[in-house]
Amino acid sequence: MKFFADTAETEEIRELADVGLLDGVTTNPSLVAKSGRDFKEVIKEICGIVEGPVSAEVTATDTNGMISEGKHLAEISSNVTIKVPLTWDGLKACRALTQGGTMVNVTLCFNANQALLAAKAGATFVSPFIGRLDDIGLDGMELIEEMREIYDNYELKTEILAASIRSANHVKYAAMAGADVATVPPAVLKSLVKHPLTDKGLDAFLSDWKKTGQTIM
Ligand code: E4P
Repeated sequence: MKFFADTAETEEIRELADVGLLDGVTTNPSLVAKSGRDFKEVIKEICGIVEGPVSAEVTATDTNGMISEGKHLAEISSNVTIKVPLTWDGLKACRALTQGGTMVNVTLCFNANQALLAAKAGATFVSPFIGRLDDIGLDGMELIEEMREIYDNYELKTEILAASIRSANHVKYAAMAGADVATVPPAVLKSLVKHPLTDKGLDAFLSDWKKTGQTIM
């Protein structure tokens, strides 16, 4: 499974990239607003940190507007992936942009039929929002399972990019359900390494080692 960082904070991205953990980054207008930075400047900086796909979302809502904004954003770097919403206009923009050779991430996907349409429109990625489905009492993971089955049935190449991930369990279950990518907030990504028995075991090993009086170097 590939890991993308779901953030527009470049320091956090740098930290994760340094560990070799990052296959890409996703941003959205809310995350850019939270960063307080200029949109195009921040996308350019992120593209200089990670080689993989970096999602930058259009804000136009009509097809032509989305295509123009998408082409403009794609000029920033060859790894920019244009994010368009899962609307009729968004699907038309997706088709046009992918045919022009630009990667597209169709975002705000909440059911399997939407996911099927996005794949048929040639999306590079489609983003099912797990956490937001859980928030309204539905099962986000069920959507990932349905998408996996449908995409496999028809050998659709669109990658399932599990989004709106809120916990370590979301990452685990998305991986088990066959998501190709998980885009994860940095704090959740870092929490994946934690287990109390790892810390306890390490303390015990180090304390026993100290008793030997030896050093390795
Ligand atoms: C995905 O690309 C979105 O940026 C993101 O995962 C949304 O997550 P949220 O529902 O926690 O805002």
